[in-house]
Amino acid sequence: MTESVEYNIRQYGLQQGALEIQYIEEYFGEFPRRKTSAEVIGRLDGRDHQILMAEAPLPTDPSTVVPVSYKVAHEVRAEEDEPKLADLVARLNDCVRFRDRKILYSWIGATRRDWRGQGHFRALSEEQEAWALDNGFDEIVVKTKNKFYAMRGVLDNLEFDVIKYEVNAEDNRESKVYLSKRLARAVLDRHRSKRAVVQQ
Ligand SMILES: CC(C)(COP(=O)(O)OP(=O)(O)OC[C@H]1O[C@@H](n2cnc3c(N)ncnc32)[C@H](O)[C@@H]1OP(=O)(O)O)[C@@H](O)C(=O)NCCC(=O)NCCS
Repeated sequence: MTESVEYNIRQYGLQQGALEIQYIEEYFGEFPRRKTSAEVIGRLDGRDHQILMAEAPLPTDPSTVVPVSYKVAHEVRAEEDEPKLADLVARLNDCVRFRDRKILYSWIGATRRDWRGQGHFRALSEEQEAWALDNGFDEIVVKTKNKFYAMRGVLDNLEFDVIKYEVNAEDNRESKVYLSKRLARAVLDRHRSKRAVVQQ
């Protein structure tokens, strides 16, 4: 990553952000279950959340700027009604303390293939951490799978710690890995990306 690059980040409100997520997810053929805007709104509405996108010029037409990377996170609380989130909390209960703390779940995110390895995801992750600290969060948790080697590598570089591992007996590549990063102001000192953030 070039230290002098400035990353252009847009932070979206819920309605437009959900549409942008639906649009960018069309580019990720590797994920069979793409998120619709309705699904994004259903998950994020009524809880603290953040929708971020990094934008960059098209190599073939540098005057055209497109969304190339995105990251969506939301608060997850000790008591959740939504079954998927209640299940997540139950799985994390032995390794994350929810009581009297604010926990951010880094839900979805990816970078379009042609723009990978250019630092966009690090820039979004650092922006997410800065926002999380400003909004009183104590910890960021994220879930991935053994087989998502690129994501595991990135989370490693961002200093996420493995907190839980759930073996899939049929196929270990499908085993789930839960990671977390505790937030403190010192986290900001280790940030590397220069970012310009626009609120949409
Ligand atoms: C994982 C992913 C989001 C990374 O996005 P990216 O924009 O290419 O990441 P960055 O360029 O910001 O890289 C961040 C850091 O991770 C490292 N990294 C990036 N890709 C990596 C890889 N394939 N293996 C190991 N490390 C990697 C970079 O070297 C960089 O380290 P540095 O900041 O210390 O120099 C992208 O590869 C992707 O979208 N993959 C498919 C989505 C996916 O696997 N999702 C899993 C669902 S949980």
